[in-house]
This record gives sequence, structure tokens and C-alpha cells, in this order.
Amino acid sequence: MAHVADKDPVSGVDTTGHEWDGIKELDNPLPRWWLWVFYACCLWSVGYWIVMPAWPLVSSYTKGLLGHSQREILIEELAAAKADQAQWLDRIKGASVTEIQADPQLRDFAMAGGRSAFAVNCSQCHGLGAAGSKGYPNLNDDAWLWGGKPEEILFTIAHGIRNDDDPDARWSEMPKFGKDGLLERGQIADVVEYVLSISGQDHDAARVEAGKTVFVEQCAACHGENARGNPELGAPNLTDSIWLYGGDRAALTETVVNARFGIMPAWGLKLDEATLKQLAVYVHALGGGQ
Ligand code: HEC
Ligand code: HEC
Repeated sequence: MAHVADKDPVSGVDTTGHEWDGIKELDNPLPRWWLWVFYACCLWSVGYWIVMPAWPLVSSYTKGLLGHSQREILIEELAAAKADQAQWLDRIKGASVTEIQADPQLRDFAMAGGRSAFAVNCSQCHGLGAAGSKGYPNLNDDAWLWGGKPEEILFTIAHGIRNDDDPDARWSEMPKFGKDGLLERGQIADVVEYVLSISGQDHDAARVEAGKTVFVEQCAACHGENARGNPELGAPNLTDSIWLYGGDRAALTETVVNARFGIMPAWGLKLDEATLKQLAVYVHALGGGQ
């Protein structure tokens, strides 16, 4: 059907000739403001194509006169952040753990670095909050197997414990009193009751005296006469209620019969000096540092 444009008698505006069921479409011009915005957008986009990266090519893209690149900006920002960190890391390398702790800015930097290094390297054994679990010591309390002074903590972290990789690893070995036949079953039962008694737990009072004798002869050399432990040997305090392997009758018997052999990697072989020191600052600050 041919397009017949005619005037709408009511509004006086031309129609487009489109008609549906007797309703005709008016041929109103586009609003001025709309048209100008449209032209402005066209112009803007042409300008944008020229100065900014815009059109994809086969293996590249139009770079634009400004050479703007988010990737370049990110690379520059990362390099700047690294340079900024490097000066801090250098200062950390040159300072002792105690000196780092004494300088508030350096300490803040070390705490942040230590926290993230801990989450990456240590949390799988010690827990994200460093609360530990069976066989893995809690680092938040002030009970230290190997000493809680800043430099002692640094040494423990750097060289590890009972590992074969670092000749300076902290080392000691509790004898397997039962397995190796060093004590009779009765003597083991006695000394376990003694340990229960000195740690304030329910115990068989009749065995305590004999247990004390066994303790003085067999255990005191490492755990101390008063059973308060010895950080030179990593021998735990047996009088507090903090247990690495469990303090009930069954766990104590297992420890005396088969002994324990907790191993920690030597982090000095994997991490750089600045990271080790940041970790020492962080661990020392966790709550129980001496
Ligand atoms: C593979 C498991 C494992 C990982 C990973 C690990 N540790 Fe340990 N850590 C241990 C064990 C086990 C002990 C206790 C050893 C013992 O019985 O003397 C320990 C002990 C320690 C101690 C001594 C605590 C004390 O009471 O003297 C410190 C400090 C410590 N870890 C810090 C760290 C830091 C920091 C990291 C991360 C860089 C880390 N550990 C990663 C297993 C681990
Ligand atoms: C040669 C030193 C040495 C002697 C001797 C020794 N211990 Fe130990 N004991 C240790 C060390 C080191 C540990 C920690 C082992 C570890 O962390 O893997 C330990 C751990 C323990 C624990 C575990 C504590 C906990 O927190 O879970 C108990 C209990 C214990 N000893 C009791 C005894 C008793 C009882 C005797 C004597 C019959 C004895 N020890 C003799 C060195 C010794």
C-alpha cells in the first residue's frame, strides 16, 4: 500500500502515512535537546577513538594518542609500592627484633607483614589465630617450649625444631620409657599419677610417692625438679594446665610410653631475613611474648 502522508485535522501535524486500525502516526520532529545530545555524543565518541584505546584489531588494538593503559598504570603502581616497601624491608634487615619493636612505624610495618606471612606459612599447623591444636603449640599464651624472648622466637622460627634440614635446629628427644623398656609398667603408672597430681588433676594418691621417685630419677633432668620445664631442651612445664599432647591419664601414659617428637620446618631455608624478623615481631606480639 502506498504511503499517503496527510495532515491530522486535530493537531495540524503531518502524519507518516502509517496507519493501524484507523489510528495514524503523527510525524513530530525529534525534540531539539535530544538531537543536540545525540550529536554531542557522536562527536565525543570520535574524539575518544582518537585519543583513547578503542578499536580491537586482529592481534592488537588502536592505542589512542594518549597511550593510556590500565595495565601500565598497575605495573607502575606495583613498582612504586615495592620501592616503598623496600626501604622498610632494608631497615628491618638492619635492625634486631627488639629494635624493630621499639620503633612504632617499623613495628606497624612488621606486624602487617608478619600477619600475612603467618597466614601463608604457619596457619596450617598453628591455626589462623595461632591457637594451635594437639601437637602444635598455641602461640598466644605465655607458655613457651623454647623460650619467648624476641630473639629466641626468631631463632626457633629460622632454624625450626627437630628437622633434619638445618644443623642448628632446636633439638631434644624424650626417651621412649615404655617402648624401649626403660621403665616398668607399674613405674609408668606411678609417674603418670604423679604428673596428674602436680598439675592439679584427680589422681590415685597411693601411687604419688612412688611416682615422685621415678620423676626425680628419670624426668627431672629435662623437666626440672619442680617440673616447670626447661626451654633449653624444649621440655614443657608439666604443672600448668597447658598441654601440647593432652594431660589426661591416657595421653600422659602414651607420652611416657612412646614419647613425642614434634617437628617444625626451618623457615630460614625458605623465607628471607626480613620476613623471619617480621614473623618474630608478630608472634612475640600475639600475647605471650616475654
Ligand atoms: C608443619 C607444621 C608447622 C608449621 C607449618 C609451622 N610450625 Fe611452628 N611448630 C610446629 C610444631 C610441631 C612445634 C612444636 C615442636 C615441639 O614440640 O617443640 C612448633 C613450634 C613453634 C614455635 C615454638 C613455640 C614455643 O612454645 O617455643 C614457634 C615460635 C613457631 N612454631 C612458630 C612458627 C611460625 C612463625 C611458623 C610459620 C613461619 C610456623 N611455626 C610454622 C609445627 C609447625
Ligand atoms: C631427655 C629429656 C626428657 C626426659 C628425660 C623426659 N622428658 Fe618429657 N618431654 C621432653 C621433651 C623435649 C618434650 C616435648 C616433646 C615434643 O614437643 O615433641 C617432653 C614432653 C613431655 C610431656 C608432654 C607434655 C605436653 O604438654 O603434652 C609429658 C607429659 C612428659 N614429657 C613427661 C615426662 C615424664 C613423666 C618423664 C619421665 C618419666 C619425662 N617426660 C622425661 C623431654 C624429656
